[in-house]
Amino acid sequence: MQITNEIKYVGVNDRTIDLFEGQYVVPNGVSYNSYVIIDDKIAVFDTVDKRKTEDWLSNVENVLGGKKPDYLVISHMEPDHSASIDAFLKKYPSVTVVGNEKTFNIAERFFGDIFKNKLVVKEGEELSLGKHNLKFVFAPMVHWPEVMFTYETTEKVLFSADAFGKFGALDVDEEWACEARRYYFNIVGKYGATVQSVLKKAAALDIKIICPLHGPVLNENLEYYIGKYNIWSSYQPEDKGVLIAYASIYGNTAKAAEQLAELLRENGEKVAVADLARCDMAEAIEDAFRYDRLVTASVTYDGGLFPAMESFLSHLKAKNYQNRTVAFIENGSWAPMSGKLMRGFFDGMKNITVIDKLVTVKSAVKDDTKEELKQLAAELVK
Ligand code: FEO
Repeated sequence: MQITNEIKYVGVNDRTIDLFEGQYVVPNGVSYNSYVIIDDKIAVFDTVDKRKTEDWLSNVENVLGGKKPDYLVISHMEPDHSASIDAFLKKYPSVTVVGNEKTFNIAERFFGDIFKNKLVVKEGEELSLGKHNLKFVFAPMVHWPEVMFTYETTEKVLFSADAFGKFGALDVDEEWACEARRYYFNIVGKYGATVQSVLKKAAALDIKIICPLHGPVLNENLEYYIGKYNIWSSYQPEDKGVLIAYASIYGNTAKAAEQLAELLRENGEKVAVADLARCDMAEAIEDAFRYDRLVTASVTYDGGLFPAMESFLSHLKAKNYQNRTVAFIENGSWAPMSGKLMRGFFDGMKNITVIDKLVTVKSAVKDDTKEELKQLAAELVK
């Protein structure tokens, strides 16, 4: 695939991986992107997951047309991009590997002392390939500390590592935002502050094309994608709406959650409902960040929270959830505790508004519960 006359796509689709990064379902697979710039000097950008080494090496060989690559630029050392470095160096032993000091620290931990020809670059340093010129823009913690973007100054192409990536193989026709958002919040979400710093650096560049390490190459309407990244990384809600996330054993807590959803919809609110024991947790996290309000509903279990709720709240905390309004529905047949415990998770999170009205379901939804749910709905739509 051609990005421009001299910049080629040599990445691969993976449609068979069961869990990306060992935990995320990817119903439409994922792509491990890799690029080649053909010039007086030839540079390859990133390798691929070891599941696809042979396919990738064959793609690279096809675009090289018998030539040898001069540089292998390492944007990111996570194994979905770096696992084929050793196979590449075996095939092209004269190549110079380009990275920063942290890149090589991590690379040697994975591969040992295999880097004979290396070029250690500094922030802002440039490397000429002939007509093309690479400028290295460090992007620490987007998503690992060694991450660096490369800006190609002639054709104005930004190689953006994980940033602007999405789940989904490249032969899937689906909108960018849904799977890019799920990818962003679950994988990079904790590092909003560092994403913001890099976006500021990127704002100073004239960018025509973004080449991420996952998902499609972006070559039009770039302000849309950069705008989404700006909202996500600043932890601002993207849409007005409510996520109701529940953990229920026999369906009574679920019933309360569904009734609240109905009341909110009657008020014209956009509502998403997640059954935490059954849904894709990554999707629930995505929706929690997408909307401005969150209601969590959990049964009390062994004097604590039901495990699915505990897991959801731990994920939210780990991803720096903030700037939202939250409310709670608890359930318990003799000593309901889940309201207090859920509320405790939000202590210390930034700029969280807690709605004081706590709905307590005593085993099952009854008339008094319905009245309480109405009161909570009224608070939420205020
Ligand atoms: Fe796609 Fe952080 O690796």
